[in-house]
Amino acid sequence: MSDDAANDEIFVTQDGSHSITASRFGVSYHSKYGAITESRHVFIQAGLYPLLLNAPEKISILEMGFGTGLNALLTYQETAGRSVEVYYEAIEEFPIPVHAAQNLNYPRLIGEKDTALNAVFLQMHEMPWDKEIVLGLHFNLQKRWGNLEQLQFTPRFDLIYFDAFAPSAQPELWATPIMQKMFDALKPGGVMVTYCAKGEFKRTLKSVGFLVERLPGPPGKREMTKAIKEGA
Ligand SMILES: C[S@@+](CC[C@H](N)C(=O)[O-])C[C@H]1O[C@@H](n2cnc3c(N)ncnc32)[C@H](O)[C@@H]1O
Repeated sequence: MSDDAANDEIFVTQDGSHSITASRFGVSYHSKYGAITESRHVFIQAGLYPLLLNAPEKISILEMGFGTGLNALLTYQETAGRSVEVYYEAIEEFPIPVHAAQNLNYPRLIGEKDTALNAVFLQMHEMPWDKEIVLGLHFNLQKRWGNLEQLQFTPRFDLIYFDAFAPSAQPELWATPIMQKMFDALKPGGVMVTYCAKGEFKRTLKSVGFLVERLPGPPGKREMTKAIKEGA
């Protein structure tokens, strides 16, 4: 757990979903315009849906940083009713405490009367680190506890959710060595999506070999970025 986690506070974003302030970095985990709205727009609609279009039997997703578990929960829910097996690897250096996760309103807001979703969300937070666990029948989750700059990856991923704190808070995570690492972790034809659309970041993506697409951003942001590793 983060040393500063005791100072972190849950707050309500504009769509009614919770987010958390990260006192260590002076930013929040999601957009104040709506945590669920942002996650659905950037990661689910721009990343996951296109990947599921051809009804693949298996998909492999890398998430940089696990945080509140919102992206993982949305991905679990979206793939639960389909015949697809998911491998989901989530990186996190400063896990939030389980008691904070218990107070987040995501399962209630996205699951409506589905109480099983609440159990899955808690299991995501309570499960051990660095061990692959099967949730439901289709979702193989491995949370890796460590610093992205030090971790190594097998080049197995179809999709990366790049959800680091903003470049203003953590410039090193948006620089060439990390983007090269993300490029190498993708299979040919793989895609990385992120909320960031800064010019310097997009130039870095191009310099390591990505094809860069601009997409409309979630509320409060004009654009987001989709980066493609060509060659499938
Ligand atoms: C924007 S938040 C992620 C939000 C998350 N995807 C969610 O759905 O709630 C960024 C996350 O990256 C983590 N983080 C920051 N620096 C890191 C590093 N060097 N390596 C791994 N994780 C890091 C933070 O602790 C935080 O949980």
